[in-house]
Amino acid sequence: MPARAAAVWAALDPLVAAGRPLRVLDVGGGSGTLAVPLARLGHDVTVVDPSADALATLTRRAQTAGVGERVHGVQGDGDQLHEVVPAGEDGGSWDLALCHSVLEVVDDPAATLRELARALRPGGTASVASANRAGAVLARAAAGHPVEALALLEDRDPAPRRAARPARRRFSPEDLLALVEGAGLQPGSWRGVSVVADLLDATSGAAPDAVRRLELALAESSPYRDVAAGLHLLATRP
Ligand SMILES: C[S@@+](CC[C@H](N)C(=O)[O-])C[C@H]1O[C@@H](n2cnc3c(N)ncnc32)[C@H](O)[C@@H]1O
Repeated sequence: MPARAAAVWAALDPLVAAGRPLRVLDVGGGSGTLAVPLARLGHDVTVVDPSADALATLTRRAQTAGVGERVHGVQGDGDQLHEVVPAGEDGGSWDLALCHSVLEVVDDPAATLRELARALRPGGTASVASANRAGAVLARAAAGHPVEALALLEDRDPAPRRAARPARRRFSPEDLLALVEGAGLQPGSWRGVSVVADLLDATSGAAPDAVRRLELALAESSPYRDVAAGLHLLATRP
């Protein structure tokens, strides 16, 4: 597990390492960065993603890892989930639904989270991760791009002339909590993802294990989590 994702896996661990196989829905799961490791832990994972290329890579990776029968790729959009994973009469049936690094690019983040919430069984858990606006501002500034950093701070497109498609959204913790609550989910506390790992380049010489331990120590407390590259929280469907 890369050091930058240490806090996410630590939060998921009590759920996914408990030994009980879960039905997992990975919205925008792409090529299986999360789906394949979860299938290796014994879970049954369905990835919904619009990208045929990503789904083809997902299938290859799952087969190579020997978990092809537990990973299912479905082509579809997060904000139209009900079209590809219909809910049962009594609501959803998934134990765990992931939405990681996807709210930045979907047409409608609120609709995506509402659809995801509907797909969960009562008591099921949503795992939501997004880019953090404050972290993006600092990262652009530290990379020598103060004009882009200011645009990000003011929620403007940092590169309007270059962009062939809309800029990726970034979120504040308050934005993310409001979206999660707006979808009818009960959020737990949020953590910062990659407080320092993304700032270290490969030549820093820092020992990966030490960076991982530092990430875990920084993830839950302010002011460190406030400037992380990403945000993550778990939320429950009542
Ligand atoms: C940055 S990747 C994240 C992949 C994975 N969730 C992870 O954390 O490694 C964003 C993914 O969102 C997918 N995506 C784009 N638009 C989407 C949509 N409308 N609904 C669901 N997924 C979408 C992309 O195809 C891509 O696989």
